[in-house]
Amino acid sequence: MQTSRRLERLGSGVFDRNDRRKQLYRGSAAAKVRPLVDLSLGSTDLDPPPVALEAMRLGLDRPGSASYCLHAGTRPLREAVADWCDQRFGVGVDPDEEVLLLVGSQEGTAHLPLAVLNPGESGLILDPCYPSHRGGLLLADARIERLPLRAEDHWRPRYDQLADSVWDQLRLMVMGFPHNPTAQVGEQAWLDEGMARARRHDLVFAHDNPYVDLALDGEAPALLRCPGWRERGIEFFSLSKGWCLGGYRLACAVGAAPLITALRQLKGVIDFNQALALQEGAVAALTKAPDWPRRILPTYRERRDRTLAALARLGWQAPNPSMALYLWLPVPPWAQERGWDDEQLAATLLEQTGLALTPGSGFGEAGCHWLRLALVRPVDELEAAVARLKPWWQHQC
Ligand SMILES: Cc1ncc(COP(=O)(O)O)c(C=O)c1O
Repeated sequence: MQTSRRLERLGSGVFDRNDRRKQLYRGSAAAKVRPLVDLSLGSTDLDPPPVALEAMRLGLDRPGSASYCLHAGTRPLREAVADWCDQRFGVGVDPDEEVLLLVGSQEGTAHLPLAVLNPGESGLILDPCYPSHRGGLLLADARIERLPLRAEDHWRPRYDQLADSVWDQLRLMVMGFPHNPTAQVGEQAWLDEGMARARRHDLVFAHDNPYVDLALDGEAPALLRCPGWRERGIEFFSLSKGWCLGGYRLACAVGAAPLITALRQLKGVIDFNQALALQEGAVAALTKAPDWPRRILPTYRERRDRTLAALARLGWQAPNPSMALYLWLPVPPWAQERGWDDEQLAATLLEQTGLALTPGSGFGEAGCHWLRLALVRPVDELEAAVARLKPWWQHQC
């Protein structure tokens, strides 16, 4: 049966291949001896705030809880988001014009290009970046420009890599700091500089910020702190990471009123909003447990430090991540000498040790010498996973 050329361009990608490999491994004899340790997804094992789950439970029991929730019904959550923006960034936001509920920030970043670009217009993404940034541009039939992030630049976006003529062609730039997958928090100055570019070349600046409260070192940047967000900025926040509610798909966009209106119009064709009961959980999380992200930071800090130390003892040196949730591991020299890329290393690791990591090229070409490890298991399990690697690693070197 015919499917669209758009889908061909989207491709199945490295994530699908990794998923298939994990599935094969689960059914293998090896998995009985060495069960799969899946550190390939940023889906946390930590608990959400009990007040959020309690509010959802109460909401589910309310008569009419299964009704569709139209935009007007999302106002309590939009108000809670506006209050959170005020407390978190000291920025006043209009809950009616400048806030939109999303089914996850992934959904927002994937749909935004359809709302702001015409086919053939250009959008800029970081390389590497979260896959929905590229996917959204592809679905909108946009031309894609990339801004490679390099270890030697400490992952700072070097805007001057692109000629002015390329900047002039762009209509949208999509960034995200704290940055998945390099696990670097980034700096406010990087966004300020991006906003100055966006102004100079008259483009929309979208900033994907689900990790805003998960900086382990330093303070996460935010587009809402950049002068000019109200003219051309849109920022995506999520309850998935800081409040550990990923499966409930609760997120929001905050930004320039015309962008919020455009995204809302587009989403009107695609979905109704999350069930009111889930929204009530999100309101409870934001208003009654605003410090939840801060409370889970020590757990991630311990996981980061102890896993990095265990890997270093093995001889696998990695940059120190400044945000929670991920390690960004270089393909080690012995594997490079064999001509292995990230995918080959990830596949071999899984097959021979049962440890599933994400090949960096799943986030863009610039990730092809890296693997991402998600710190989504208790620290003793992470250390045990590294210990499991030891005999295999020593055999390879
Ligand atoms: C940069 C980035 N954006 C968006 C998402 C998805 O978040 P959500 O659950 O809000 O869709 C992730 C998840 O890993 C992410 O890393």
